Amino acid sequence: MSAPATFGPLAADGGTPVRERFLPVALPSVGEAEKQAVLETLESGWVTTGPKAIELGRRIAEASGAAQGLAVNSCTGALHLALAAWGIGPGDEVITSTWTFASTANVVIHCGAKVVLVDVDPRTKNLDPEKVARAITPRTKAIIAVDFAGQRAERRGGAHGRRVSSSASTFE
Ligand SMILES: Cc1ncc(COP(=O)(O)O)c(C=O)c1O
Repeated sequence: MSAPATFGPLAADGGTPVRERFLPVALPSVGEAEKQAVLETLESGWVTTGPKAIELGRRIAEASGAAQGLAVNSCTGALHLALAAWGIGPGDEVITSTWTFASTANVVIHCGAKVVLVDVDPRTKNLDPEKVARAITPRTKAIIAVDFAGQRAERRGGAHGRRVSSSASTFE
């Protein structure tokens, strides 16, 4: 890959790095309360499911207004569970974004359904709603929207009568 003439060679090609230190895009916010909660959990004897996992599920339901909440081990696990709960399988199509992490497409394949990748709006990097509308077919059962870098993707899933699941991303 070549760099624009004004910059000289890229660092990967032996040029001078533009930064000395790694620039993190999204640092986790870990304070004393979080450290204390981890210690309490380790000392409680429950390191997998247990009271904290149940409490997290309850709080997710409370915050989202859902009837029930369930804490799982990862976003991938949550997406897979949502598709399975909706009965998505062979013969179904699920739309997701081209600007994402692999698991939003992998979970569709895990369910035996077909992944339909739809391009993003170059401004927001979120799914382009017009392109989503054009990709909908009678086989479309769900849309996995990626809320890129904390921006909520526009939702029109209800209007199309399809299930909509979210996946959040903090990286660029
Ligand atoms: C948009 C998106 N969806 C899903 C995932 C998968 O998350 P997890 O590693 O918790 O399974 C990621 C992880 O980076 C992600 O960025």
